[in-house]
Amino acid sequence: MQNFDYHTPTRLIFGKGVVEKLPEVMAQFGKKILLTYGGGSIKKIGLYQKVKELLKDSEIIELSGIQPNPKYNPSVLDGVKLCKENNIDVILAVGGGSVLDCSKAIAAGACYDGEAWDLISYKVKAQKALPIVDIITLAATGSEYDCGGVISRTETNDKIGYMDPVLFPAVSFLDPEYTFTVSKKQTAAGIADAMNHSIEQYFVEDTTLLNDGFCESMLRSLMQNGRLCLDNPNDYTARAEMMLACTYGCNGILSLGNSMSGWPCHGIEHALSAYYDITHGEGLAIITPRWMKHILNERTLPRFVKYGINVMGISPTLPNQVIAERAIDATYDFFKSIGIPMHLREVGINESRVDEMAHHIAVNEGLENAYAPLTEKDIKEILMASL
Ligand code: NZQ
Ligand code: ZN
Repeated sequence: MQNFDYHTPTRLIFGKGVVEKLPEVMAQFGKKILLTYGGGSIKKIGLYQKVKELLKDSEIIELSGIQPNPKYNPSVLDGVKLCKENNIDVILAVGGGSVLDCSKAIAAGACYDGEAWDLISYKVKAQKALPIVDIITLAATGSEYDCGGVISRTETNDKIGYMDPVLFPAVSFLDPEYTFTVSKKQTAAGIADAMNHSIEQYFVEDTTLLNDGFCESMLRSLMQNGRLCLDNPNDYTARAEMMLACTYGCNGILSLGNSMSGWPCHGIEHALSAYYDITHGEGLAIITPRWMKHILNERTLPRFVKYGINVMGISPTLPNQVIAERAIDATYDFFKSIGIPMHLREVGINESRVDEMAHHIAVNEGLENAYAPLTEKDIKEILMASL
């Protein structure tokens, strides 16, 4: 087992009606709040009105219109400006992963004198960030429990996963009832995203029985409860199980003591959504089975066999190669069965920019160091197989 040094400072407040605690929680951080949100879903579900009512004694400045795949320009830049001009004490992010990710970049940028891009691009290490509180309304990314934010810069086709311990939310509110209104498309994308977070951490060189068990049970829970959420969007128990499973995705708890994952599917997907602004979870669902097929060989076979038996329920009496191939097919079939378009062409991507994207990924994502190293040629083959 590898050494590790692990600290997750985020307080999670989970369950029905927990948002009532918001005034008491926000009071610790100050009275000047930057409220960040997206395109209006929080108004439709009554959460915006609820937050305003609960915080009527605070001074609230708003940043709205944060888009999926949040953009550096204008959202991060506008948010940093608002924080500096108004001496903001704390950011309250209300929405999905995109709103929270954008808020993390704003929180760091607000405490830095130069261009926030210096921090996001790792040119400069942030010394501190404003505290962040969030109310997450979409189960998917795990951003509510990790110190990462993914920011897109349209003019350079960059989508960068910006991670820094100063970005951990101070407090995350998770009320599964606020996810009842998430569309079938976004629910399915959330299932695929969180499943892939487990898969990325499962297919590594050194693992433990404990971590394998965590990942396997997360995957089974996401498949079973995810389907229930799609069948009955108001199923509280299923939404709650899905929400908690998603929360564990990216904060490292699934891989303590493991060797590092190169997060290859994420590396490839981030380029797809940087170039074409597609939904993250859909891109991952398309890439994952093709990546699996591409890396299946004698060395990786035992991992696929374990995954096939323990996650996909394939009979251990079959030959190993058959178990592995069936496991990959079962992964593809599951994503298809929850309504995800399983070809890049279906989400508007054709071969015209495959070479350019493969090169961009090879240069920027360091996938030669992944569990199954990927060169530019490998990445191109995976993209072509995904068309
Ligand atoms: O903008 P609004 O109107 O709020 O609508 C959103 C958006 O259109 C809507 N939505 C959110 N909550 C809703 C709702 N609709 C109805 N009812 C609700 N309760 O859903 C749409 C998608 O929202 P978004 O925040 O983009 O989705 P998600 O949470 O999947 O976030 C995706 C982003 O997170 C990044 C992805 O790359 C992508 O940019 N990731 C962040 C990670 C992290 N911080 O750890 C890890 C992930 O791997 C991922 O890369
Ligand atoms: Zn993801």
